[in-house]
Amino acid sequence: MRREPGAATSAGRRSREARIRRALLAWYDRVARPLPWRRSTDSYRVWVAEVMLQQTRIAVVIPAYERFLGAFPTIAALARAEEEDVLSLWSGLGYYSRARSLHRAARVLHERGETAFPFEREEALALPGVGEYTAAAVLSIAHGKPWAAVDGNVIRVLSRLDCLPRPDARGAPHAEIASRLLARDRPGDWNQALMELGEMVCTPKAPACDACPLAEPCEARRRDVVLLHPPPKPRRGTERLGLELTVVRDRAGRLLLERGAFAHLDHLWLPPVRLLPSPPARTDFRHAILHRAFDVAVKERVLGSEALRALATKPLRNGIERRVVAASDLDRLGRSSLLTKALRLLGA
Ligand code: ADE
Repeated sequence: MRREPGAATSAGRRSREARIRRALLAWYDRVARPLPWRRSTDSYRVWVAEVMLQQTRIAVVIPAYERFLGAFPTIAALARAEEEDVLSLWSGLGYYSRARSLHRAARVLHERGETAFPFEREEALALPGVGEYTAAAVLSIAHGKPWAAVDGNVIRVLSRLDCLPRPDARGAPHAEIASRLLARDRPGDWNQALMELGEMVCTPKAPACDACPLAEPCEARRRDVVLLHPPPKPRRGTERLGLELTVVRDRAGRLLLERGAFAHLDHLWLPPVRLLPSPPARTDFRHAILHRAFDVAVKERVLGSEALRALATKPLRNGIERRVVAASDLDRLGRSSLLTKALRLLGA
């Protein structure tokens, strides 16, 4: 019988993929860390963990996760909570918009009478804050659905395994390779095994190739180019901007704070700020947000308590909120380090 062209290579590829699956899952079964979110497959608990883990290190997530679930153990409990309490329990994790979206999504589900994360991908993706990664991670880990979750760790592992270029805007070719490799009988373990490998062994700067269960099929190791993968992003220059921040307060130390006026930090309560077209004449400190560096000039206005309250109740542009906050309540609000720096500067 004549062989199809390429049949030998595709059979070879399938057998390599099967070896990769077996080796990685056997390794994961031996070494998986007993992380708190691995104790149960309750979809809400898995969901909270995956949201927290997206931009935050595991060591920081663990205590915050236990605290958060202690306060809000179910979707219903989170849906009924006040936003301020949710944000306050999020403190230390940063990127507060994640907490707000999670809270809104819990309310959407609770209103529909749901007590679990959706079982279908499209329904999951329709929730606030749920993107491809979160949907795939929770559906696979909690509900055993065959979706590949591709985060930064997985991209690094796959890049090295096959010496891939950087993923394009649609995640190609990594997303397709991840789906093909997925262990369909254990999708949640498979996804977590790839993440675990990326976190513990196939690390960015000091990969432990000698301890890697995938050393044998790893193409980057064979060619001795592990540290060249994934290829670095083209560097984006830092944008320099000016910011004027006015600490408005009364003599008792109560502060006028705003939320929503400053697009770069629209989830946090800040003193009134004004973006300047160029760096200010006098810079009190520098503050970086992602690839932007702000030269910040701080001003201070001390008002009577009545005048302060009047400013807080003035009608404002859509989406901007104001309030007067006592210094002792600042920590409950999820305050920005921008505010902390400004208060330190003023000796407040
Ligand atoms: N990073 C994100 N999700 C994770 C998980 N479930 N286990 C380990 N690391 C992770």
